[in-house]
Amino acid sequence: NKFPSPVSDDQDNKLLNELPKERFWETVDIFQWEGFWFDPSIIKSAITFKSSFEARDNDVLLASTMKTGTTWLKAISLCIMQNKTHQTHDEYYHKHVDILTTENPHFHIPNIETITYSTKALKFNIYDASSPRLLQTHLPYAALPDSIKKSACKIVYITRNPKDTLISMWHFFNSIYKPNQDPFPLKKAVDCFCSGVHLYGPFFEHVVEYWQESQKRPQKILFIKYEELKSDPKRHVSKIAEFLGRPFANENEVDEVVWRCSLERLKNLEVNKSGSVLLYVPNSSYFRKGEVGDWKNYLTHEMEEQINQTSRIKLEPFGLFL
Ligand code: A3P
Repeated sequence: NKFPSPVSDDQDNKLLNELPKERFWETVDIFQWEGFWFDPSIIKSAITFKSSFEARDNDVLLASTMKTGTTWLKAISLCIMQNKTHQTHDEYYHKHVDILTTENPHFHIPNIETITYSTKALKFNIYDASSPRLLQTHLPYAALPDSIKKSACKIVYITRNPKDTLISMWHFFNSIYKPNQDPFPLKKAVDCFCSGVHLYGPFFEHVVEYWQESQKRPQKILFIKYEELKSDPKRHVSKIAEFLGRPFANENEVDEVVWRCSLERLKNLEVNKSGSVLLYVPNSSYFRKGEVGDWKNYLTHEMEEQINQTSRIKLEPFGLFL
């Protein structure tokens, strides 16, 4: 199970020419593959991943759309695995090193579809890494390799209120695409979000796919809401630990993980104040306000209604209320 050869440029171009294409935020071309919109480089990695990755029963996959708490979930999962893990894939997994202080969480848990474009994480070969592997993806459920679905490997999915997700995304992409420029018009960003034409979009279908799977197979997929994690972190961090088969021995351990992973702490760690794990994405950009309801500071009533209406149509029929 060595790192596979990527899709060749010729195969790549042929495929891309056949896929629907749009311009995301008037800035980058995105292509629709498996019903979702991606940067072309991600499609290439995702195809390679889908066709060649062999999951192991003790793998853990963290899944989400963008800006829904991925970094937080990574930090929490690292602490949980570190808490009880003695065999290691590298020195950082040793129990006495707080790995959150050595590198940004995105370094420790690679995003499988951008790994070929990462800087430091390039060194991390997910195919060869020793168990237990902690991996992360923004890919939709349908695009995951069959071996992930069929093996006993566990998936933790985090999602968030769509209005806060959109506002978080708006800040994030403005800081990357438009530094020191006027932000992309918010009304247009809302339109893109509701129509699903944005990176890793549509948000709504992405969430529904994992939600339905988690309903069918609760032992396989744990579905978490950012807001619940915020309002009762101890309860939900414990739940994640139990789901991963690594329950905490006592309350102090839970308290410590909640504290180690708090936004205030992570944001102020030197490793997160500078540098970047992923090209063009400063580590600091993963940590902003982390508030529930921040959308109220930005969205007009009309924009709010537009997103609510989309949620009513796309989420609520599945019993999902975000
Ligand atoms: P805001 O932009 O609303 O502040 P992702 O990690 O999926 O990219 O999501 C980023 C969002 O999660 C940002 O939201 C960020 O501030 C918030 N976040 C990052 N680390 C967090 C933490 N430790 N606790 C709570 N929220 C966190």
